[in-house]
Amino acid sequence: MKRAAAQAALESVAPGMRLGLGTGSTAAHFVDLLGARVRDGLDVVGVPTSERTRLQAEGLGIPLSTLDETPELDLTVDGADEFDASLRLIKGGGGALLREKIVAAASKRMFVIADATKEVGTLGAFPLPVEVDRFGARSTRLHIERAARGLGLIGAISQRMSAPDAPYLTDGGHYIFDCAFGAIDAPEALAERLSTIPGVVDHGLFIGLATAIFIAGATGVRILGD
Ligand code: 5RP
Repeated sequence: MKRAAAQAALESVAPGMRLGLGTGSTAAHFVDLLGARVRDGLDVVGVPTSERTRLQAEGLGIPLSTLDETPELDLTVDGADEFDASLRLIKGGGGALLREKIVAAASKRMFVIADATKEVGTLGAFPLPVEVDRFGARSTRLHIERAARGLGLIGAISQRMSAPDAPYLTDGGHYIFDCAFGAIDAPEALAERLSTIPGVVDHGLFIGLATAIFIAGATGVRILGD
């Protein structure tokens, strides 16, 4: 199903496009399919959202750039951990939320590719990833807790780990706190509060960025938006 969603999104890719390349298992299908089209002569340039995706795209021979060289993109194709009917997303399960958000914001359009299990009525069943600077991370965590409590959200905040004694580090060298708040009834308000906390580098709420969601289910691919 992930591959079917990726295939459907690929149909909108045209020669000459500057593409943001997402991260995760669904985005990896898109990169793989794009690699085959590039091998057949399609001329595009990609900006990867993670080192993982960069390595995959490089291996497939996809011409790559950076946002410093190519600051404006035509289309980003990426996965999501959750999405709702208003095209609001939770992302960051794969730890790449900061670069994913920067790349999506640099793009005219953002297509999300997902299987139907990612669709929710209310965001929040998937713990919200929040990327924080390592300096003062325990203080930042208290601020996150307080900000959430102010919106009636109470839940476990756990630091993502790579191994029992090794905190997970993002490509940018930051920590991630996974915040199991449960149903987030006002994602815009939470996004705004989290963004004002010193030490929060970014959070996994993507609001107003996705322009279409390609949802693959048992009966085919449905498109939300665009
Ligand atoms: C990475 C992400 C991914 O897009 C998200 O976790 C979905 O991953 P997958 O396609 O493997 O389910 O946000 O930071």
